[in-house]
Amino acid sequence: MKKCIIQTKDLCKSYINGKSGNHVLKNISVTFYEGDFTIIMGSSGSGKSTLLYSISTMDKPTGGSVNLLGQDITKIGEQEAARIRNKEISMVFQSINLLPDLTAKENVAYPGYRVGKKQEINEKVDELFASFGLTDQSNKHPAEMSGGQQQRVAIARALVTSPKILFADEPTGALNSSSSEQVLDLMTEINEQGQSIIMVTHDIKACARGNRLLFLSDGHITGDITLGKYNPEEKKEREETIFQFLKEHNW
Ligand SMILES: Nc1ncnc2c1ncn2[C@@H]1O[C@H](COP(=O)(O)OP(=O)(O)OP(=O)(O)O)[C@@H](O)[C@H]1O
Ligand SMILES: [Mg+2]
Repeated sequence: MKKCIIQTKDLCKSYINGKSGNHVLKNISVTFYEGDFTIIMGSSGSGKSTLLYSISTMDKPTGGSVNLLGQDITKIGEQEAARIRNKEISMVFQSINLLPDLTAKENVAYPGYRVGKKQEINEKVDELFASFGLTDQSNKHPAEMSGGQQQRVAIARALVTSPKILFADEPTGALNSSSSEQVLDLMTEINEQGQSIIMVTHDIKACARGNRLLFLSDGHITGDITLGKYNPEEKKEREETIFQFLKEHNW
């Protein structure tokens, strides 16, 4: 039995403007499991980012509950939410947001210093850079690196605190296809090592890396399939399966 890491019950999120309401998430009850690489898919404006932020303390739902790692995050204050974001989970975004005046290594190490001893964090950073093939980028500034290299540094930064869950919102959205592949290879690799990942994307190639695919439409999860482990040799077949699944859900 897989362990539950997030469980929502009747999760709702609405934006009210004037008399009319935009009901983005409508009574969503869904469970996410440890070790999975879960993908959230859906058309633009369907609420993928809203769902991701609502389950990760980044945004406040307007109804229902969200149990994140054993705690109902709809009932906690900003201080506890910040603690969770610093120590329990991490986030990567389409816009990479590395600090321009720091080297790659400093960008990764600094958030680590908040949670661990300097020496241990420095060792962890070196390990992450070595395993991500980034050692030769360590002392470069973001402007001297490609988009793909920067995003891999951002993933290293997200992992330096050993988060229980890595959330990602379109992490390959701003990258060319070869950089995207490198970032996806990295995410596949860390997931194989046990990292739980929940990723929003609308790219089929990125979708194919997940082992579970949720489809969001009209405020509901209208599709939920579980696939086997990603195998690069079966990439084409997998992308075709996903394409059919998405077509059935009027993507
Ligand atoms: N802060 C906000 N205030 C008002 N409406 C918002 C706000 N944030 C999002 N929305 C609305 O919520 C809906 C869902 O937005 P969301 O960003 O979650 O969609 P998405 O599926 O991530 O889209 P995309 O693929 O374009 O990133 C949209 O109709 C959007 O206009
Ligand atoms: Mg979005």
